[in-house]
Amino acid sequence: MIDSPELLLDYDAGTKPAGKAELYGQLRERINLLLEGETDWLANLGNAAAEIFAWLPHLNWAGWYLLRGEQLVLGPFQGRPACVRIPLGRGVCGTAAASGESQVVPDVNAFPGHITCDIRSRSEIVIPVKVAGKVVAVLDLDSSQYGTFTEEDREGLEALAADLVLLIDWERALNS
Ligand code: SME
Repeated sequence: MIDSPELLLDYDAGTKPAGKAELYGQLRERINLLLEGETDWLANLGNAAAEIFAWLPHLNWAGWYLLRGEQLVLGPFQGRPACVRIPLGRGVCGTAAASGESQVVPDVNAFPGHITCDIRSRSEIVIPVKVAGKVVAVLDLDSSQYGTFTEEDREGLEALAADLVLLIDWERALNS
């Protein structure tokens, strides 16, 4: 819950760990604290996007796309307005959703079919969220710098996506 004292932090005060493993360990703890005990999927996806955006460096966009039928539909996010519908297989998000594989893109201009939502974006990472082996959503992070995301980010965010399987009522999210 948001009023837990552990969650109240001046995000810009330089108190976050420098190493990525630690950074993601703490991010996961914070998101678990924020979401546990709350069952509303919309509120939880919103708070998770806000926490990721505030916590990780160099982001200009962070949010969710939910798999509704054959297309991804924009969910809660932080950043500038984004394209609402992405067909399965299109762009970085559609590729991650169709393949079930995370996509780490150091230079978005070099990714065939990349969909530009924010012209400031230079690099991107997209992580599929899977429930019982089936993709239900993707987590999309954009950075205004080239090469922001590495294998360490992929590992940390895949672990976070696995936490989210238990923290979100996906059945309700996909049928609302
Ligand atoms: N760049 C993404 C589209 C979503 S926005 O970045 C928020 C893509 O190529 O799928």
